[in-house]
Amino acid sequence: MQQDHRMVLDHRVVVITGASSGIGEGLARWYAQKGNSLGLLARRGDRLEKLANELAPLAKKVAFRVADVRDRAGTIQAIRELESELGPTDLLYANSGVGHTNTLHDLNAEGAVEVIQTNLLGAMAAIEAVYPTMLQRNSGHIVGISSLASYKGLPGAAAYCASKAGLSAYLESLRITLYKTGIKVTTVCPGFITTPMTAKQKKMMLVMDVERAVRLITRAVDQKKKVFNFPRRMRFLLWCAKWAPDRWMYKLGQE
Ligand SMILES: NC(=O)c1ccc[n+]([C@@H]2O[C@H](COP(=O)([O-])OP(=O)(O)OC[C@H]3O[C@@H](n4cnc5c(N)ncnc54)[C@H](OP(=O)(O)O)[C@@H]3O)[C@@H](O)[C@H]2O)c1
Repeated sequence: MQQDHRMVLDHRVVVITGASSGIGEGLARWYAQKGNSLGLLARRGDRLEKLANELAPLAKKVAFRVADVRDRAGTIQAIRELESELGPTDLLYANSGVGHTNTLHDLNAEGAVEVIQTNLLGAMAAIEAVYPTMLQRNSGHIVGISSLASYKGLPGAAAYCASKAGLSAYLESLRITLYKTGIKVTTVCPGFITTPMTAKQKKMMLVMDVERAVRLITRAVDQKKKVFNFPRRMRFLLWCAKWAPDRWMYKLGQE
């Protein structure tokens, strides 16, 4: 009989960046229900505090820190503080992310810098924080929330696609570097999920709700998948888009 991975109780220390909303919040709820210790990080302390209070009766322990992942030293310090309260990180979700768009006449350079600093450098800072202890213990699991947008430069999302392509490549390289160790690395590439990030987005297809996305992500992580792309049909469409002529993609961006 196939085991329902939701029913397994475990007692890991799970650190989640970007836990104040969307996928990160959903992951926090999931791991709290399984009796794990949770370390939550984001900039909006009020939301983290509310979530931590709500999850405290379910989780083994919950702690949170307010940090901006664009601040490398501050992020490392915040995660180390969480570890001194909870113990060494068994599972890290480098999940914090933002999206900014660009147009024909406006590169939105400031937005682009924020996207790269948050989605790529911010994830790298979180990984840097847990890396030495994971190496020392020869165990741990690093999960980066990338995106299906990492596979194709989509019109109007130049920095976002670049940040996620960079993150996916970074995680792949790390995974190979760590091949002989007990540390696992998983790259998660979701399609469209209904979260505050996509709330204003008009053109979306094959959209999935957070609860379902969290169920699929956590199962893939339990299975220690190297890369998890979902939904599959969206991955297929993006694979096709890789070979599509630019004029088709251009048209798609105009509609
Ligand atoms: N929704 C989708 O369709 C989709 C698809 C593919 C990939 N993703 C990825 O999934 C991840 C989560 O996004 P989401 O959809 O759940 O959006 P969301 O609800 O907007 O969540 C983004 C999270 O990142 C945090 N964050 C943003 N900037 C930060 C910073 N500078 N420092 C620390 N934390 C920061 C936010 O917290 P604060 O604002 O409180 O700091 C928030 O908790 C992102 O990496 C996103 O790129 C989303």
